[in-house]
Amino acid sequence: MTVSIDRGLLLAASDYISEHMGFSFGEERLADLEKKITAASKELHYSKTEDFIEWLLSAPLSETQVESLAGHLIIGETYFFREKQAYEILENHILPDLIYRRRNEGRSLRIWSAGCATGEEPCSIAISVSKVLPTCNEWNMTILGTDLNPRFLRRAEKAVYSNWSLRGTDAWFKERYFQKVENGRFRLDRQIRAMVNYKYLNLVKDSFPSLSNNTNAMDVIFIRNVLMYFRQDIQKAVIEKLHHCLVPGGYLITSQTETSHTLFSDFSSVNYPDAIVYRKDTVPVNKATTAPLFRQDTSSKKPPRKAPLVLKYQPVKTAPVPSFSEQPKLSVDSAGNGHRVSGYNDAAALFERGRYLEALEIIAGYTDAHPGDPGSYILTAKIHANLGNLEQALEMCDRALDINRTDPALHYLKATIFQESGKTEEAIKELTTTLYLDRDHVLGHFTLGNLMQTAGNHKRALKHFQNTIELLSGYERDTVLEDADGLTAGRLSEIIDVITKRE
Ligand SMILES: C[S@@+](CC[C@H](N)C(=O)[O-])C[C@H]1O[C@@H](n2cnc3c(N)ncnc32)[C@H](O)[C@@H]1O
Repeated sequence: MTVSIDRGLLLAASDYISEHMGFSFGEERLADLEKKITAASKELHYSKTEDFIEWLLSAPLSETQVESLAGHLIIGETYFFREKQAYEILENHILPDLIYRRRNEGRSLRIWSAGCATGEEPCSIAISVSKVLPTCNEWNMTILGTDLNPRFLRRAEKAVYSNWSLRGTDAWFKERYFQKVENGRFRLDRQIRAMVNYKYLNLVKDSFPSLSNNTNAMDVIFIRNVLMYFRQDIQKAVIEKLHHCLVPGGYLITSQTETSHTLFSDFSSVNYPDAIVYRKDTVPVNKATTAPLFRQDTSSKKPPRKAPLVLKYQPVKTAPVPSFSEQPKLSVDSAGNGHRVSGYNDAAALFERGRYLEALEIIAGYTDAHPGDPGSYILTAKIHANLGNLEQALEMCDRALDINRTDPALHYLKATIFQESGKTEEAIKELTTTLYLDRDHVLGHFTLGNLMQTAGNHKRALKHFQNTIELLSGYERDTVLEDADGLTAGRLSEIIDVITKRE
């Protein structure tokens, strides 16, 4: 592979990019890397690519600078209904399964396009949903599009496209869903556009699933033509986290060039004539045979649980609501200190590892034995929220609030569950209470800022984002924020920086 700049320097740049962005530009893609870095260096006004690489290697870049560079290295190539068979499967199999069987009672549907570029993919999903479910405005509908490139997200939000973005579609499609605007461009129908919500999210650096960025309890995730850029270890880590984001029985859709038995071994493959999609089982297939996180009760006569041979959707089991007559019982260790018995810690560890159904079983047992412990209600609420059982999640929040009405963290948790339920007004009310009880609640301000922004109240949104930044200035950058699923103070500042610039 011939390259025109110093090969050693290019390899050093490739290592840097691999370490900081998770992208893989091995020996065989060095020429491609050179081309992209040269384009990036020109845009950043460097006359020599070598100087740019030397600056890159010597200057400590902020996360957002790294991401801006990533935006130059990865093209946002996409178009409406790209790889049509995915949408045929969505419309003919997945959506009917969700709409008429599994989600019919709660009337809620959650779909995420991860690495959505300029929005063609999530908007195609929205069109498919509106075709299969004409009454979708009566449902609690979440179609989330995320990307790490703020320029792409800005364009996605405008929803104005060229013929190039529509090259995979027929003439009637343009007529039906678009309005002609200046320069031979087309604006997407307002109702379809309103179904999609865009968020800035770096799949390599950011936390998910998380109630705070609404990436939990997804029914379907599209991650197409994104994983292929990552190193294999990063691919694995991202896929594992996406697995945790799905409800049991949820679907993961990749590009057909990215299917892999090894990488998606935690899922079962569902084969269609032209395509494979992945589905999360109700009982984790591989994990069921790994060493348990918690001590087995050896006195139990029940045989150990095995992975099902027939992969059929099983309804989510819900925890029995505990009786509420006793006071909290903490076990006491030899030094006389109260602590939660292992059942709680086991359930929390299973929750962290995305093993929600098992976590639910254990915490239900723990709650039965310790019915006054608010911690067990909080954990149960979070597990239910990640399983998409929103009514149960809210009920558990209320049980915890019955014990402590003035805990801002509980009101914040309830707000995020209302947010997941699409109940924006209720979420705003809970966030207002959170901030009344603790005006320095960082995530309270941030989440309220996000909700205000989505509602179009940009002035109030900005105020809450500014409050968040001010509060964050009192934290070390590496401090992990409370109840934020691993989000650090530094990263949240960067996210707000990007969001406010996007405005
Ligand atoms: C080729 S486009 C794919 C667009 C769409 N999914 C499709 O298949 O048509 C790849 C997108 O992934 C995004 N991307 C790359 N790395 C990412 C990361 N770490 N986090 C989030 N998005 C990322 C890029 O910004 C780009 O928009």
